[in-house]
Amino acid sequence: MKPSILLTGKIPSSVVATLEEIGNLDHFRRDGVDLMPHDELVARVAGKQALVSMITDAVSRDVIEAGTDLKIIANAAVGYNNIDVAAARQRGIIVTNTPGVLIDATADLTWALILGITRRIGEGERLVRRGEWKGWTFDFMLGAELKGKQLGIVGYGGIGRAVAARGRAFGMRIAHASRTPKSDPDAEAMPLDRLLATSDVVSLHCPLTSETRHLIDQPALARMKRSAYLINTARGPVVDEKALAWALRMRLIAGAGLDVFEEEPKVNPELLTLENVILVPHLGSGTVETRTAMADLAARNVAAVFAGQSPLTPVS
Ligand code: NAP
Ligand code: GLV
Repeated sequence: MKPSILLTGKIPSSVVATLEEIGNLDHFRRDGVDLMPHDELVARVAGKQALVSMITDAVSRDVIEAGTDLKIIANAAVGYNNIDVAAARQRGIIVTNTPGVLIDATADLTWALILGITRRIGEGERLVRRGEWKGWTFDFMLGAELKGKQLGIVGYGGIGRAVAARGRAFGMRIAHASRTPKSDPDAEAMPLDRLLATSDVVSLHCPLTSETRHLIDQPALARMKRSAYLINTARGPVVDEKALAWALRMRLIAGAGLDVFEEEPKVNPELLTLENVILVPHLGSGTVETRTAMADLAARNVAAVFAGQSPLTPVS
């Protein structure tokens, strides 16, 4: 008998077809509803052998306990802070994610934010759209250059290193703060406090864990240079959004670029009023090619487990 698979979100139809070949697919689709309600996830996971989940699904203990037949939870994302991995492990359920395939797309989006905020793209675009542009003047809306400055990366993994590589092309010096030692002759390893105090751009690329929640809080922001920029394409709760709004309002830092938020899709209302922050709606891996590759990798993990093989990308 074919295994049964619960798929909670919209993925490319080619990958839906692959999942239909692998097993009997229960695909959550409802007009006008993007997110599967949690109680429905708990109800529909019962009897399924695989769950293909999105980062918006809280795969918490109640879901895992309801999924008594689950063999694999394949998250269609590299971040897996939405899954209670310990609860899954206790029940012998394999958890997989999608590392690697989204590195370039997310590093590119990070750089869109770095350039966007340092060159005041959002602020300028809003001004033009309001019809308030009065014409070119010598000292109008000047930004900051990047060449020769320090790019500080927090979390020197796949995306962090790809952001650093792009930074070198812009003539930046690279510093990184890591949890476990990382070797790179072209970058300087330093403690987080020093990285915050010396970097001109600080870019966050660590996972959300109990250790990194509010890693960037009021004291951390106060440590940064007044001329520095903070970029977050990791996870919203890595930054204390209220403290960030305060630091931006007080001009304790020059600006911020955010792709992720503490309570998505809500955004701290004060951030919405500030010109020195650029805000985009969790678009990091959002290209057609990358989202297809992520869904495909999740499906290949499911196929491998049902074929009795090791999953391609288990979370450690
Ligand atoms: P990765 O290759 O696993 O890199 C994460 C790095 O963070 C690892 O090198 C890890 O080092 C380090 N780290 C862990 N805890 C740390 C801490 N307390 N302080 C400093 N560094 C720490 O993952 P990735 O593919 O680069 O993705 C990173 C994160 O980006 C994901 O977890 C996800 O949340 C986010 N993301 C967002 C988007 C988006 O759409 N905005 C897209 C993709 C990913 P260790 O060796 O010490 O574990
Ligand atoms: C996206 O946010 C991911 O973690 O893949």
